[in-house]
Amino acid sequence: MDSIWIEGGKRLEGKIPISGAKNAVLTLIPCALLTEEKLTLSNLPRLADVDSFSHLMNELGVGTAFAGKKGGRTNRAITLDASHIDSTVAPYELVRKMRASILVLGPMLARMGESTVSLPGGCAIGDRPIELHLRALEAMGAEIELAEGYVKAIAPGGKLPGGEYTFPVVSVGATENAVMAATLCTGTTHLLNAAREPEIVDLCNCLVAMGAKIDGIGTSHLSITGVEALHGADYAVMPDRIEAGSYACAAGITGGSIELVGARASDMLATTNALAAAGLLTEFTDEGIKVSATGKLRPLAISTAPYPGFATDMQAQFMAMMTLADGDSYMEETIFENRYMHVPELRRMGAEIETRGRSAIVRGVEGLTGAKVMATDLRASMSLVLAGLAAKGETEVLRVYHLDRGYERLEEKLAGVGATIERRSGG
Ligand code: EPZ
Repeated sequence: MDSIWIEGGKRLEGKIPISGAKNAVLTLIPCALLTEEKLTLSNLPRLADVDSFSHLMNELGVGTAFAGKKGGRTNRAITLDASHIDSTVAPYELVRKMRASILVLGPMLARMGESTVSLPGGCAIGDRPIELHLRALEAMGAEIELAEGYVKAIAPGGKLPGGEYTFPVVSVGATENAVMAATLCTGTTHLLNAAREPEIVDLCNCLVAMGAKIDGIGTSHLSITGVEALHGADYAVMPDRIEAGSYACAAGITGGSIELVGARASDMLATTNALAAAGLLTEFTDEGIKVSATGKLRPLAISTAPYPGFATDMQAQFMAMMTLADGDSYMEETIFENRYMHVPELRRMGAEIETRGRSAIVRGVEGLTGAKVMATDLRASMSLVLAGLAAKGETEVLRVYHLDRGYERLEEKLAGVGATIERRSGG
């Protein structure tokens, strides 16, 4: 297994190009199932999860063609062709590798009248249930069966009528599944307390480009009027606000200055507000956002929340940065029940962190020391990379496949702003 090796202590300075958003593209790809025409997604990030989703689509009979040099710097694109669906079953072998596979449930049901997906199961950060996805589809007229580790959704008569559903808690994935399914209902669907993340807006904008009728985009009340069919489209994936926020933390933790080229400020105001509260200068340039350290980091009190609150996907990265703040920081992880897997590894690098349930106290220390570390999820792995960039000495982050799921060309982008970093092939 590959690892990332870092010699820390370098002040990072320069520009980092921000790629297309992982959490947008993973809901845009299944949109192709909603039409027999071609859907082309540009500004496509080169990520392991995108490749995994492409394999799943092939399993269903969807043609996929990539454009642009793989591994090159050019903007890559994928064209998806779901004119012939061979199977409506998303198998365990593929779903277990990427839980976002559950996002084929709604669009496949809407287009084919039935859809069967292996239950995704949990992951390191929590048990990640999907009952909200199922309740929303039932509210739209679907019949749901659970058997042998699979969920099967059926539209009696082949088409869903639509309906009204109020989410008891905000769920990004359940909102995405429901919106995609609602576009082809015979009637109108109202989704209340829907997620408002920028990735949901990106999904709605893509669906509208495909001919869907959606009102309330960007609000927690989405009204979708079903249409007979959707057509193809060419759509550019939004920039990744979490990747941008992660590299902003790289500037903060190394006392540097990084311009996040292509970042969209309006997507990440909670992040830029937290960066400013920590004492970082954030400048909105015509290329993106420039984040610069201005001295010792100030401690923060952060509680994660659904958008427009502070993103749970930014918690681990900010915690790494706060290990060097001038005082004690307080963090509360309100979204997932086990999202402090980075804490034991950060402690091994000299951080002083206490956790109790979903709360954490991060006591600022003078410095960190490099170590061989290992994480169990994507954002925890990134927090260890950030700590390694600031630590004295060498850090090796194992199980780099976690990082490859969500960060395109990580070592290349960080080396480009002065980091001493390389990928090492494991034994
Ligand atoms: C999406 O996951 C993202 N993944 C996550 O990013 C992100 O952390 C999360 O939204 C919250 O913003 C993708 O978009 C591919 P949820 P999702 O449904 O949709 C509970 C990353 O690092 N819940 O909004 O799975 C759930 O357990 C990843 O990029 C139910 O109880 O998140 C959680 O506590 C990690 N029942 C909360 O809701 C359900 O049916 C929010 O989950 C669904 C969710």
